[in-house]
Amino acid sequence: MEFVTVTTRPQDWQGDLLCIGFWQDQVELTGDIAELDGRLGGAVQELIAETEFKGKPGTPSVTRLASGGPVKKLALVGLGKANAASPLEAYRQGAAIAAKTAKTQKAYTLGIYFPGGDLAPDALSAAMTEGILLALHQDNRFKSEPEEKPPVLERVAFLGMEGGQAGIEKAQKVISGVILTRELVAAPASMVTPTTLAETALSLAQTYGFNVTILEQADCERLGMGAFLGVARGSDTPPKFIHLTYTPSDTPTKRVALVGKGITFDSGGLNLKTQGGIETMKMDMAGAAAVLGCFKVLGQIQPPVLVHGIIAATENMINGHALHPGDILTASNGKTIEVNNTDAEGRLTLADALVYAEKLEVDAIVDLATLTGACIIALGDDIAGLWSPQDDLAEALLRASATTGEKIWRMPLEEKYFENMKSPIADMKNAGGRSAGSITGALFLQQYVQKTPWAHLDVAGPVWSEKGNTYGGPGATGFGVRLLVEWLLNL
Ligand code: BES
Ligand code: MN
Ligand code: ZN
Repeated sequence: MEFVTVTTRPQDWQGDLLCIGFWQDQVELTGDIAELDGRLGGAVQELIAETEFKGKPGTPSVTRLASGGPVKKLALVGLGKANAASPLEAYRQGAAIAAKTAKTQKAYTLGIYFPGGDLAPDALSAAMTEGILLALHQDNRFKSEPEEKPPVLERVAFLGMEGGQAGIEKAQKVISGVILTRELVAAPASMVTPTTLAETALSLAQTYGFNVTILEQADCERLGMGAFLGVARGSDTPPKFIHLTYTPSDTPTKRVALVGKGITFDSGGLNLKTQGGIETMKMDMAGAAAVLGCFKVLGQIQPPVLVHGIIAATENMINGHALHPGDILTASNGKTIEVNNTDAEGRLTLADALVYAEKLEVDAIVDLATLTGACIIALGDDIAGLWSPQDDLAEALLRASATTGEKIWRMPLEEKYFENMKSPIADMKNAGGRSAGSITGALFLQQYVQKTPWAHLDVAGPVWSEKGNTYGGPGATGFGVRLLVEWLLNL
């Protein structure tokens, strides 16, 4: 699929489907749109009236135009409120809807004309390209016949635009990473094992020239990673500790570590998950997948920051060697953990990953983890939880969130709640009670970071969408890649 920005006005464009965007309650025929309406014999005005189109986001109004004319079909796309908190997101979603319309209307060529604002052309073209690529991505790997039948969209033109080609190219790179993440998360646990994650890291390293180290079980034993290896004990599939490094060609402006939870299947262990909780647990490596997706983008964009990617990958399964509830593990920083719940396994693996990350002496550590169901109860399917003791780091991530539309919400590291994690026999338990479950999870992780600025993102909700939304899912959404990349590019 080819993307271009052109100065061509909508009334002069020729192609299969012309999509015109309107802000909500600002559906007026002025300027170029009035001229277009005139050339189309009043078709725009009629479509607005007939469908009572008000510019609300959602279903577009579509009509076939007189045959033999320059444009076959016309669609009106609602962009929602003009003064929305995140205008870029309105363009992203509007373009996604335009692309889906092109698909159902079997258009080969799509022209998009959205009302301009004071946003930079590259930011606009990037957001629209992202929305389109994300909306059209379809995972047919496991279908015996692809669902998509030709014709398929060949060319997208953003009309009435000066510049913006660089935004398109950036978005194509970013989305290639998001799609890698989606495909890793969507693939079944029998196909994406710790070994597969390690192979993906090796292949990224080969393609883009990253450094990569894969620590085997014995290496992890030597490093004293008792918490991570405790979880791995119950699996017949070997664990892999993955360390990728992207080094910029010039002296790095910043050095950071991204840590991703990489449980390729979470059965819960002996605290076995029940029906309604276990079916989607192939997605418990979505944090790790986002880190790998981010590296695919780093390799193509090559920003001036040094980035470590760290993944302690294992399954959480049950065999004769599995953790018993009540077992005591020693993490690589010497702290002891009473495992009162084998289903709070992510934090055990992350504990050793965070200790390892801190030894790399970076300016910041950000972890992404599908850590708790409690975070979904608190923030729902669309919003990730953010915890950080450092306001500047939290604010930088919130800024990246506003730009990318990947929603995060800051939550408190309420120290008092760590009382729930006190163990009579070890330094701490791995699970608090039901109350404030995502906060106690974050407090547990905090025990494994001494001095490096750190942020924890509990992404349990937004990495997966059962029903699907405007440009993500159903299933894996690829959440986190765009957020991390945006944060890294603005460090
Ligand atoms: N992987 C789960 C969290 C999860 C739940 C992610 C639903 C995505 C959707 C995690 O390992 C887990 O089981 N957490 C427990 C923690 C509890 C035992 C303290 C939970 O949320 O119930
Ligand atoms: Mn679990
Ligand atoms: Zn888990």
